[in-house]
Parts: sequence; C-alpha cells; structure tokens
Amino acid sequence: MEALKGRDLLSLADLSAEEVLFLLDLAAQLKAGKIKPNCPKILGLLFSKASTRTRVSFSAAMYHMGGQVLDLNSSVTQVGRGEPVEDTARVLDRYLDVVAIRTFEQTEVETFANYANIPVINALTDLEHPCQILADLQTVFEEFKQFSGLTLTYLGDGNNIAHSLLLGCALVGLNIRVATPVPYQPLPEIVAKAKKIAGDRTQVDIMTDPKEAVRGTHILYTDVWASMGQESSADDRVPIFMPYQINTELLSLADPAAIVLHCLPAYREKEITHKVMEGSASRIWDQAENRLHSQKALLAAVLGAG
Ligand code: CP
Ligand code: NVA
Repeated sequence: MEALKGRDLLSLADLSAEEVLFLLDLAAQLKAGKIKPNCPKILGLLFSKASTRTRVSFSAAMYHMGGQVLDLNSSVTQVGRGEPVEDTARVLDRYLDVVAIRTFEQTEVETFANYANIPVINALTDLEHPCQILADLQTVFEEFKQFSGLTLTYLGDGNNIAHSLLLGCALVGLNIRVATPVPYQPLPEIVAKAKKIAGDRTQVDIMTDPKEAVRGTHILYTDVWASMGQESSADDRVPIFMPYQINTELLSLADPAAIVLHCLPAYREKEITHKVMEGSASRIWDQAENRLHSQKALLAAVLGAG
C-alpha cells in the first residue's frame, strides 16, 4: 500500500481502519510464506527500556528481508550523556532508513519524528504499544476469522497496552471492555478517541467489575500490573489488582470458545495463573510469534517493500 510508505507509527490512531486491515493481511501472507519482500535497508533500535520480543522480532524481521539492524541503546550512544533528541534524530536520519524507539515519554518519539524524515516506529512508550496490538489483532483474526460480533476484555492496569488495544479494537470493529480498579483506568482522552473511532458500530466500555467484564466475552487479555518504570509500586498493587487475575474461575464466565492473550512478559499467579497460561484457551505463544510477522509487514510497508 503506497499510502504507508515513509509513514511513522507513533500511535495506533495514526492508522486508518483500512491500513490496519491491509497490514494484518500482509502479515498473514508473510506468515504463510506467500511473499518474501526484499528490503536491504537499515533499522536502528533506540531502546531505553528492556525488551525481548520487540527487539528480537524487529531484528529477525529485518534480517529475513535482507536488511541490517543497529542496536542503539542509550548506553552505547551519546544519548546516555544527554545529547538532545532533536540533534540525534537529525543525524540518525542521514544514516538509517527506519528507527524503532522504546522509551518512557510519548513526546520523545513525537519529537524524534518531527526532526527525522525517515519512518519512526513506537516500540513502546508509557502511553502506547501499537506494534503489540497489530500482533494481537492478527492472533484474534487467525482464531475467529472475523472481528465483528466479537468482544475482547482487557483486565488489569489501564496502561500502554490498554490504550493501544482501545484504539486498535475500535479501528477494526472489535467490541472492547476494559476492567480496572478505579484509580488505574485508561486515560480519558484515549477512551474518547477510541469511542470516536468506534462510532455506533463498536462498543467501548470502561468497567470496574471483572466478572461482569468477562461474561460472554470471546477474548480475555491481561498485562503486568506494574509496567517498566513502576517497579517500586509493584508489591502495593498486588492486593488491589488480585480480583482482576485471569484464572480458571474468571475464564469459566467467558464464552466457551474464548481465548486468552497476554503480551508478555508474564508474572504467573499474579495477573494470570500458570494453569490458564498453559491451558487450552491460551494463544499466548502464537501471539508472541505474530510480533515477527506483523512487524515485518509494518517494516515492509513503511519502507515501500510491501
Ligand atoms: N510484549 C513485549 O513488547 O515484549 P518485550 O518487552 O520483551 O519486547
Ligand atoms: N505494560 C508493560 C508492557 C510490556 C510489554 C510495560 O510497559 O512494561
């Protein structure tokens, strides 16, 4: 799709519904081995937070397409010594073909994108994780072959994953319920944006009761209760979030064919039990695999190889 060439992905709301569906279709074709893009370009990974899946799946995707990857975490560049984002962006723009940035502030990826002409991909900020949700939607579509008429329930912290899920589900017409303790609800401006995208055809519900939220749902989804950067409050959060744990009892209230997703890394017996993670409803490992295919689709599209 020509319209995606050269584009940034800072928020899932940067994409239209048509563009998301195009990327999901491309990802499915890549996974099936129907197409093999040739893309001898250079990706820079600017990561200020830890990563297993995002780092390795972006790298493998690039290598599969004949490209190269530079791991530019802040400790090996002048960023760690305080070189401004504006300067780093204008310089890396002249060496690289695309960058993926993992950091804290959304404004950092926005500033980078303002100063660089090459495509800039949000590889997770405190506000959003759009690449994760492309893989999640691919996993849901593989299972159900449709989005309409289905409901996804996210349980836990109203964090970056919850925000991008709200936007992604609204874009593809998948009903979404987000159930969190009251002080941990997703940001009202993201909820408002999701509702605007969803219009009348898709339900977007912000809830507090986990049992009500999972009743009859088709997809249960959770994430860590304390995200990267919130480690000091992790212990205090456990009793607050425990009613939102995905366990056999909560799963039994969902649709009998319901599946369970988790973006990983997971803390067993906290946000999800070992039994559910390893049980027959879990699609967590396919979901992790789909990071590779959906990000390869994204790279191919923004680099004009898709
Ligand atoms: N889900 C996810 O983004 O995993 P990593 O933090 O390991 O990249
Ligand atoms: N919400 C989590 C997601 C990790 C992939 C975090 O930001 O740490």
